[in-house]
Amino acid sequence: MDLGLKDRVVLVAGASRGLGAATARQFAREGAKVVMAARNREALVRLQEDIYRETGSQSMMVLPTDLTQGDQVETLIHHATARFGGLDILVTNCGGPATGHFVDLSMAQWQHAADTVLFSVVRLIQTALPHLRKSPVASILTFSSNSARQPVENMMLANSLRLAVVGLTKTLALELGGEGIRVNSILPAWTQTERVTEILTARAAKKGSTLADEIAHQAEETSLGRLGTPEEFARAAVFLASPAVPFMTGVMLGFDGGIYKATL
Ligand SMILES: NC(=O)c1ccc[n+]([C@@H]2O[C@H](COP(=O)([O-])OP(=O)(O)OC[C@H]3O[C@@H](n4cnc5c(N)ncnc54)[C@H](OP(=O)(O)O)[C@@H]3O)[C@@H](O)[C@H]2O)c1
Repeated sequence: MDLGLKDRVVLVAGASRGLGAATARQFAREGAKVVMAARNREALVRLQEDIYRETGSQSMMVLPTDLTQGDQVETLIHHATARFGGLDILVTNCGGPATGHFVDLSMAQWQHAADTVLFSVVRLIQTALPHLRKSPVASILTFSSNSARQPVENMMLANSLRLAVVGLTKTLALELGGEGIRVNSILPAWTQTERVTEILTARAAKKGSTLADEIAHQAEETSLGRLGTPEEFARAAVFLASPAVPFMTGVMLGFDGGIYKATL
């Protein structure tokens, strides 16, 4: 199937590693012009070189950006749209918040988590919207989490703030649908990235188990008996954001190997 992404301009935020990096790579494989943003310049440059080796694409750009800083987000959108002449698809990934129970968390941690998980998304969409409005295939894809549907133990911040991203996504889909702009979210669970390895390593240290034990334990919660891979995630994300599915908006797409058990 042709996803209609050839020469479309895509901005992937939080692209230096993990799910964001895999998604940026998949867009490039589909022939899109890809702008990649995150804080770690070296990681972004390495990724760009790697994608170039794989795809031969020269229509890529990396822009080191701290998504919690409004002026940096404005610079990002300005340079991205100036280089490629517009913007068709915005992917609003950013970092996950600290783990912890309610009693462990300070107000400063709540504020930082809100800046990272929620306000980075609001800021990116606010700044990119005038450009997206000019695209005939405009689409916004937020990354949320299965924890918005089903709280995960020891993840108070994620369980709370991911739900706000889902509410934002769903409401924006209603508000922007009349302009033909689609807004969807993808909700991953336990997809094997560096962040997940870090979380499970910390959990193993606390319990006196091993990383392999913790991976096996999480895998048992899925129907498929394993964790997901970033590449599998990226294929689902790119499909949902692409012009190939113009009637899909307001969709909260689970990517969880069957962890989420509710009927609807
Ligand atoms: N993997 C999963 O199974 C899973 C499940 C549920 C939810 N999620 C969520 O999905 C998102 C991606 O997951 P992941 O596993 O790929 O996480 P990850 O490996 O930690 O990657 C996060 C990305 O966001 C970037 N980032 C973090 N803070 C940033 C900031 N202030 N400004 C700009 N970029 C920033 C990081 O790059 P820099 O450090 O270079 O800035 C990195 O590229 C995370 O929010 C995660 O919590 C993941």
